[in-house]
Amino acid sequence: MGAAAALVTVGDALAAAIARLAAAGVPEPRADAEVLLARALDTTRVGLVVAARRPLPETAARDFAALVARRAAREPLPYIVGEREFWSLLLTVDRRVLVPRPETELVVETALRLAPAARRILDVGTGSGAIAAALARELPAARVCASDLAPGALAVARANLARHAPGVVLVCGDLLAPFRAAAFDLVAANPPYVTDAELGGLAPEVRDHEPRVALAAGPDGLAALGRLVAEAPRVLAPGGWLVVEVGAGQAPAVRRLAEEAGAERRQAARGESRAGVGLGRAAHAAREFDRSARSARAPDGPPAELDTGRYVRVEVVRDHAGIERVLALGLGGGGWTRS
Ligand SMILES: C[S@@+](CC[C@H](N)C(=O)[O-])C[C@H]1O[C@@H](n2cnc3c(N)ncnc32)[C@H](O)[C@@H]1O
Repeated sequence: MGAAAALVTVGDALAAAIARLAAAGVPEPRADAEVLLARALDTTRVGLVVAARRPLPETAARDFAALVARRAAREPLPYIVGEREFWSLLLTVDRRVLVPRPETELVVETALRLAPAARRILDVGTGSGAIAAALARELPAARVCASDLAPGALAVARANLARHAPGVVLVCGDLLAPFRAAAFDLVAANPPYVTDAELGGLAPEVRDHEPRVALAAGPDGLAALGRLVAEAPRVLAPGGWLVVEVGAGQAPAVRRLAEEAGAERRQAARGESRAGVGLGRAAHAAREFDRSARSARAPDGPPAELDTGRYVRVEVVRDHAGIERVLALGLGGGGWTRS
């Protein structure tokens, strides 16, 4: 076949790609095909309109075919183009991290509204570094720490934070275990919250490509949330806030876990022994954590015995679809938080 016969126009190549992506079940085939073709041609989506009748150069055609094949295999578009915007910050993303979602900006918004004076902030399960970068941008006087269990995620976060918020400190560890008592005014998190049963029914983009450790949270989806709610009163200073994203329908259960944790902490403080009798998961975690915190606290940290805080304020925030998406739990005893 001669070279002239092999060349198709930009417009024809786009139409063929849209059809292929649609056949593969991609939800927005036109928009995605345009982004990928613009990338292959190193132009903009408007540039595609201008070039519609021109022949597509061979190298661009090859690049475009490879990009379309990845998207047809339902790889998320942000992984293919290597970036995603969050809070107006352009973040590098790849398959080591969850693609930051627009609804997670509600975590940032809620944290800024409830704890505008926070000076010590933790983004736990930072993934790409999205929440930490946004909070560090908005609260430049704060010291921000970002943690994750996954070394791959931390590598991505490191690159993003170096670009957008170089002062953020990165820590590798399991949820709140690495941190000393009363270390933070604000803990923000978008933890894994997908139930085992839901995993198989997720869109292929999520189920087959995003990291399992960023999604899976046990039979009820509350494994990480329960531990966070139970353990946060230890690492929060009096008056501090825990602001967490939750899955659709999970807010009431997380709220109950917070109440359980509070009740259990009060009973533990009174020295009542309830070992093994009807304790909730969160309460068990809190008790276990308290034990280890007492022996493991940093020498310069406040004594773990100060850890009598309990949640006295609860706020549930809905997303634009009306789904309860963010839960904010405020500890008692603070002087600076807004009520
Ligand atoms: C749902 S993703 C959120 C990522 C990012 N914060 C965002 O909103 O885009 C959850 C993150 O928590 C991390 N993670 C899961 N279990 C963890 C644990 N036990 N301790 C610390 N991080 C954990 C995962 O590696 C993942 O990066």
